[in-house]
Amino acid sequence: MAKRTSLHGFWSSRLAFVLAVSGSAVGLGNIWRFPFVAGENGGGAFVLFYVLCVFVIGLPIMISEVMIGRRGRRNPIATMRIVGEEEGSHSSWGLVGVMGIVSGFLILSFYSVIGGWTIAYLGYSLTNGFSGLSAGEIHGLFSTLLADPVKIVALHTVFMALTILIVGRGVERGLETLVRFLMPALILLLGLLLSYSILAGDFSGGVNFLFRADFDALTPESMLTAMGQAFFTLSLGMGAIMAYGAYLPEGTSISRTSFAVVLVDTIIALVAGLIIFPIVLANGLDPAQGPGLVFETLPLAFSSMPMGGLLAPVFFALLLFAAWTSAIGLLEPAAWSVESHGRSRRSVALVIGVVIWALGLLTIFSFNLLADVRILGGSLFENVDHLASNVMLPLGGLLITVFAGWVMCKNSSSEELGIGTGPGYRTWRFLARWVAPISVLLVFLHAAGILGILGLV
Ligand code: TRP
Repeated sequence: MAKRTSLHGFWSSRLAFVLAVSGSAVGLGNIWRFPFVAGENGGGAFVLFYVLCVFVIGLPIMISEVMIGRRGRRNPIATMRIVGEEEGSHSSWGLVGVMGIVSGFLILSFYSVIGGWTIAYLGYSLTNGFSGLSAGEIHGLFSTLLADPVKIVALHTVFMALTILIVGRGVERGLETLVRFLMPALILLLGLLLSYSILAGDFSGGVNFLFRADFDALTPESMLTAMGQAFFTLSLGMGAIMAYGAYLPEGTSISRTSFAVVLVDTIIALVAGLIIFPIVLANGLDPAQGPGLVFETLPLAFSSMPMGGLLAPVFFALLLFAAWTSAIGLLEPAAWSVESHGRSRRSVALVIGVVIWALGLLTIFSFNLLADVRILGGSLFENVDHLASNVMLPLGGLLITVFAGWVMCKNSSSEELGIGTGPGYRTWRFLARWVAPISVLLVFLHAAGILGILGLV
């Protein structure tokens, strides 16, 4: 078959691709979402189950997404449709791309709100700083922010505008440069914060909380959340990674690249946990307090550490950049798909961005004006997050891995992966055909209580 070539050019190097995919993967999911869901689900067993999901489900699906993306070299909808037909299956595989775009809308709608909180904290750290503030005062800062919908709407607007700006210009310009500097700087700063937690926090308590597993306490719902977190943090299941794979030059090893990204992403999340929980425990805070966790713990570290006044703004600026590069990855598949129907990228990014922005108001108001609205026991924000992260992403990932393992023939996948048909290839194919899809299904059935009804657990 004649190889397709990318319509938007290629990444300038393998490193550029690694950086772009890690830019999408590493974001609020690692530093904001992972610690708070781990805290809400009791740490330990939840964390280990999450790591298991990352390597057993996430890694083979990441490889599958990049592979399908490079095979199709189009936007995710067109790619799934074209490769599906080419493999003698159906063009309706394009619907997986459509579902992915909807998941991206839902996720970006709240992602941008949290991006706005990050801007607020960058503002605090630049103006008054946190130095000398007590835990109570830092808590007050956060609750005052949450109670101010006008301010959050404004910041959400700024964050969304920044995202629309880059996506409207075309992702390949700018993103590479941004991430190339961002990743090393973020890792350096996390290293500094980690040494603070080791020295000043309850580090052994934090390690215990994160890694001491009590599997009896792992509920089916927690398992679903851990799996959802694995998809969320790796940007999987919605075609985002597929869109980046479309720009990948031939001859770059997909499996090694994916492994590197998965490893870096997981280490960053675990380090974020190792920074946050020692501070939580040393200050008698509640690990299960929810989405405010990072915003109420890290300022405490900055308030008492040497040079905290200087490091705080640097940290929140880096977190903002990390969130920004992820938000770009969330909007890109939708922008690219609609753009190819003959509309300009700028106008498409703007229109879609405004729709997502409006959806984001639900999240904002769920922390203040509409805090009393509960659906299925959760707030509006929790429902949007749960539907997108825990249901739609794993479902998308399931379909993608079935496509890569069952619809694509052996010749196509081994040719595209370029690793022959040896043990490496066979391992991937086994994981993609059997282990990943069955695991996702089992977690779904377990969460729905069906395994229990059948008397299997
Ligand atoms: N992975 C990002 C994070 O951890 C969030 C994200 C970016 C994402 N793109 C995505 C999640 C695509 C799911 C799908 O912050």
